[in-house]
Amino acid sequence: MADTLTITDNRTGRQYEIPITDGTVRAMDLRQVRTSDEDFGLMTYDPAYQNTASCRSRITFIDGDKGILLYRGYPIDQLAERSSFLDVAFLLLNGELPTAAERTAWTGAIAAQATPPAGAVGLLQGFPRDAHAMGMFLSLVGALSTYYPDAKTVSDPAVRLLQIQRAIAQVPAVGAWAYRHATGQPVVAPDSTQSYAGNFLRMLLQTPDGHYEPNPVLERALDILFILHADHEQNCSTSAMRGIGSSQADPFSSLAGATGALYGPLHGGANEAVLRMLLEIGSVDHIPAFIARVKKGEGRLMGFGHRVYKSYDPRARIVKRTADEVFAVTGRNPLLDIALELERIALEDEYFVKRRLYPNVDFYSGLIYQAMGFPVEMFPVLFAIPRTAGWLAQWDEMLRDPDQKIARPRQVYLGPARRDVPGD
Ligand code: CMC
Repeated sequence: MADTLTITDNRTGRQYEIPITDGTVRAMDLRQVRTSDEDFGLMTYDPAYQNTASCRSRITFIDGDKGILLYRGYPIDQLAERSSFLDVAFLLLNGELPTAAERTAWTGAIAAQATPPAGAVGLLQGFPRDAHAMGMFLSLVGALSTYYPDAKTVSDPAVRLLQIQRAIAQVPAVGAWAYRHATGQPVVAPDSTQSYAGNFLRMLLQTPDGHYEPNPVLERALDILFILHADHEQNCSTSAMRGIGSSQADPFSSLAGATGALYGPLHGGANEAVLRMLLEIGSVDHIPAFIARVKKGEGRLMGFGHRVYKSYDPRARIVKRTADEVFAVTGRNPLLDIALELERIALEDEYFVKRRLYPNVDFYSGLIYQAMGFPVEMFPVLFAIPRTAGWLAQWDEMLRDPDQKIARPRQVYLGPARRDVPGD
């Protein structure tokens, strides 16, 4: 069996044989399919990239039909059970889990870089008190490029590694400080003796007398949520990261762009949107009317559906389990009953079954965040902090890939042909 595709162009009767590699044909191989020498050649039309592979990657694998998610080959449930977020970040970046010596060096490098430049606190003062935490986070991440001009040398792997460490190390402080600004509290400096998640919780929730002892169950739950959100192959924000990075912009500018992509309610803003939806529904009795509205096309059931998963999102399963552990400490979130009933109805209702809409990672995560005391505006930030590791792993892979160039899609132009501007 030849690994080729034979195309017959019925406009000309000509035949072309195109190689198939890894289940793909190269779109550029279609360019030779032309009706005349003046013809530009055939292109593919794929709005929203539903069937276009933009890269070859060795980082994350998803089987959307079977509900499988692997980071560098390791199943997500095993990583959530047996690893820490910083181990997973190392894995995404380097391809293997760290040895004991590598872990010590890696966590040491992260701890050493954890304090954002002093000017970041001054920048925060310029934001309104009611500024959305994600807007402040995005701006401060972008502003890091002004403090680290060396980050521009993206062709140097050693320089890239330093920026990767800086970014992963500093996003918890940037996120926590945005929250402290919004709540009128002074910022708390990072503490290198704490875990990644514990340090973040401390910077967020420490009281004015300097007190805060993270509850180990909540600290571990947050670390698990960070692991689940660390990467998800070529989603909207990762594509933005790769797209911006392909112009050889510095990584902080690319991270700011990726954060912007994540902010939207169809992507990382969905966890916030789910919580607002549950509050709006208000009680289990109102669910049938809400579902009826969704089925009429008046709004979406947020936290449901996914471009790739056409079965239960494996991350949602782990989040649901983690929620029980968190609620055992914090008390049960009263919105859980509404979420469970929504899920029960949706999984039986023909509208959702036919479209293969299942809960995604965002459906239950907001309930945990709320029970832990985070305001809703922080939810997308809680997604962006761990995803920074995935974005950077994908960015680094892109810069090492000889196949990659500046991202530049084509278009099908349907506007007016050349015409003259009317004269007097
Ligand atoms: N509620 C109701 N109907 C839905 C939903 C939903 N959540 N999601 C999809 N549909 C319907 C949609 O109306 C369409 O119906 P029809 O064929 O009759 O027009 C059909 O299902 C296919 O939807 P689509 O919009 O073509 O699917 P997509 O792959 O473009 O969108 C999605 C994927 C995640 C944007 C979408 O499912 C959605 O908007 N979900 C709600 C937002 C959400 O939870 N986002 C988080 C995604 S997971 C984490 C992350 O990526 O950040």
